[in-house]
Amino acid sequence: MSQEFKLDLPIRPRRLRRTASLRAMVEETVLRPADFIAPLFVVEGRSRPEPIASMPGVNRLCIRDLVKECRELHRAGVPAVALFPKLDPKLKDAEGTQALNPDTLVLRAVRAVKDAVPELTVITDVALDPYTSHGHDGVLTAALDDVENDRTVGLLCEMAVLQAEAGVDLVAPSDMMDGRVGAIRQALDETGYTGTGILAYSAKYNSAYYGPFRDAVGSAKAAGTKLLSKASYQMNPANRREAIEEVLLDVEQGADMVMVKPAGLYLDIIREVRDATERPVAAYQISGEYAQICAAAKLGWLDYERCRHESLLAIKRAGADLILTYFAKEMAKVLNG
Ligand code: PBG
Repeated sequence: MSQEFKLDLPIRPRRLRRTASLRAMVEETVLRPADFIAPLFVVEGRSRPEPIASMPGVNRLCIRDLVKECRELHRAGVPAVALFPKLDPKLKDAEGTQALNPDTLVLRAVRAVKDAVPELTVITDVALDPYTSHGHDGVLTAALDDVENDRTVGLLCEMAVLQAEAGVDLVAPSDMMDGRVGAIRQALDETGYTGTGILAYSAKYNSAYYGPFRDAVGSAKAAGTKLLSKASYQMNPANRREAIEEVLLDVEQGADMVMVKPAGLYLDIIREVRDATERPVAAYQISGEYAQICAAAKLGWLDYERCRHESLLAIKRAGADLILTYFAKEMAKVLNG
């Protein structure tokens, strides 16, 4: 009976999936090396690359090795890097004083990279978490029960100007304080850095998946304590409309690009943001997303290469123009063939 069963179907979508060439012809989303931004961790001194246990394949690099890595990324067609410093804990304090040291680690790293690979776009985070002993992105109120929004924004403005002075192309406020994008824009303009752009971490969620990153920059010390909850500034993962509001506020205040973070768990947000603004949209495939794929692959439970590709493809398909990802270099190499 099933032998003779025939459907009278004028439309058979499988026709276009029949051969590899047909499938390639109708492929809607294509990844390219220029889609990626590589986050890189920098440390003081002339140390050997320091592995990060929860992020296999990612190392903290001294400035000399960082420059080497940037050359390789540039050669592979990755257009941009986002630099994160890991400070000696002895240099951290409650106010994040080192963030405003004009010769602080990340600024020296920026100058070295810009010197060696001037065409590479360099991005730096504007937030205090690598510099504060408590690991928060801002300074705390007198009662120590929250970050102090406006005072923090004042410090972020100074930080952004120092980064612009060091030569970054884009400053990336990742702190989620209210009003910081407008204030930073004004500070940059007033000091003559009208050409320095702002990539705003606009919809940054209070995610449990930042854990490996906090190991990487050493901001996890207070993790698990009441003090390290970032819930009063990072967004509630339950919220969707609020993301659009944050994005529109940042665009109004002068953000050149906006970001959704994390990426893979927030594809709906990426799509809505894509539809809500004409600005380029970036998405950050964060440390926990990376770690999950690496861990499952190591156990033999998932196919590393296919999951790497599919996870990035999904983020681009959702509407991201740019993806910050720890897979940037190897993915670019794969795409270059
Ligand atoms: C903090 C910052 C975080 C990340 C980038 N900048 C984490 C946090 O908010 O604690 C996370 C990136 C990642 O997990 O890969 N300003």
